[in-house]
Amino acid sequence: MTTSKSATSTTLPKSSSPAAPARVKQSLQQAYSIDELRRRARRNLPRAVFDFYDGGAENETTLRANQSAYDGLNIVPRYLVDVSKIDTSINLLGAPASLPIAVAPTGAIGYGWPFGDVAIARAAGAAGIPYALPTSSTSSIERVAREAPNTRLWFQSYMLRKRDFTMGLIDRARNAGYEALIITIDMPTGGKRERDMRNDFGLPFRFTPRNMLDFASKPGWVSRLLRHGMPTLENMVGFVPDTLDTSTIASSVGKNYDPTFNWNDLAKIRDAWPRRLIIKGVLHPQDARRVAQIGCDGLIVSNHGGRQLDGAPSSLQALPAIVQEVGSNLEVIMDGGIRRGSDVIKALALGAKAVMIGRPMLYGVSAGGQDGAERALFLLQEELLRSMRLSGLASISEIDRDILLQ
Ligand SMILES: Cc1cc2nc3c(=O)[nH]c(=O)nc-3n(C[C@H](O)[C@H](O)[C@H](O)COP(=O)(O)O)c2cc1C
Repeated sequence: MTTSKSATSTTLPKSSSPAAPARVKQSLQQAYSIDELRRRARRNLPRAVFDFYDGGAENETTLRANQSAYDGLNIVPRYLVDVSKIDTSINLLGAPASLPIAVAPTGAIGYGWPFGDVAIARAAGAAGIPYALPTSSTSSIERVAREAPNTRLWFQSYMLRKRDFTMGLIDRARNAGYEALIITIDMPTGGKRERDMRNDFGLPFRFTPRNMLDFASKPGWVSRLLRHGMPTLENMVGFVPDTLDTSTIASSVGKNYDPTFNWNDLAKIRDAWPRRLIIKGVLHPQDARRVAQIGCDGLIVSNHGGRQLDGAPSSLQALPAIVQEVGSNLEVIMDGGIRRGSDVIKALALGAKAVMIGRPMLYGVSAGGQDGAERALFLLQEELLRSMRLSGLASISEIDRDILLQ
């Protein structure tokens, strides 16, 4: 794998995110799939935290569909071609990426590993791929920029009713050198995630006998929390005046998604943000067309990992019609359910320029901090290379619809 920015790196600044103990690092070498990292995350985390990462909305139909959609496609391999050298690099939104993969924004990572956002951002940089920091991160915009200087950084924003606050975050991302802004549009309100309700992991967060027992059952997790402190939503300091209490702030943010946010507002953001603009959460081809008309640079076909509208199509199902509508006008990325290197090939065969991965990085970081995050990326990279070689594909540009069983 060729690396981009990371290849030129000297020593990185100290990370706020603690390293995993040597025995954990070593045992990560025996995690052979994303699913095995998931099992380790489940073992390490209180049930409420694991379920918050792993779960989806209502019946979790869309969550399951995101993954099973790949099973419905077959790659038909070609043999007797020279696959001694495989090139997985692409140009993604104006800069090189060593894999057709970027890390999706996921909030509250600090509950899985202290300052896990920094750990994942550094792992992405080492692998030569972009990292998207969410608004609801547990490491601030500035901390991640400072501690992951060799990573291509994108900033993801929701539109909150407090527009001035939102625009302030976007300004901070610009000042800190983030190269792209992602606006997530599939959150006019939160999805109904019943695992969180059952685990008392709702907002505002309350300590209840159930979640206290749950937390106490994971002493390793508790001791990390005690040593490094309760995670805070660092970007949101000041969102509620006169408090730093994470629960109060998160609860207020939760009530602040702006259901009036519309296409005119999006056009204003296009005017205000001078760098690459990517719209996340597109499922309808007509919405994709409007995103292109506004002059955005990319879009992400996504159902938020099955966490918003249960019953929405899987991202893979929604992808082809969107590619057909706007594929020649802007860069179409997709996310949802990528767990294997061959899944990446299938998504690219249906026209995606690149994919994003959410939970694989959460499982990895919860299994062993930055080393676990690096392991997740290593596994996907190794599987992608191997699957390309087994399919007779020497470079990403050779992946198209013809490689699929028609
Ligand atoms: C725990 C968790 C938190 C998330 N937080 C955000 C977020 O803050 N902003 C956002 O745009 N998407 C968020 N997402 C959605 C991801 O960006 C992405 O769309 C999804 O995880 C992709 O599916 P995958 O997890 O199957 O890879 C979150 C997903 C998870 C699992």
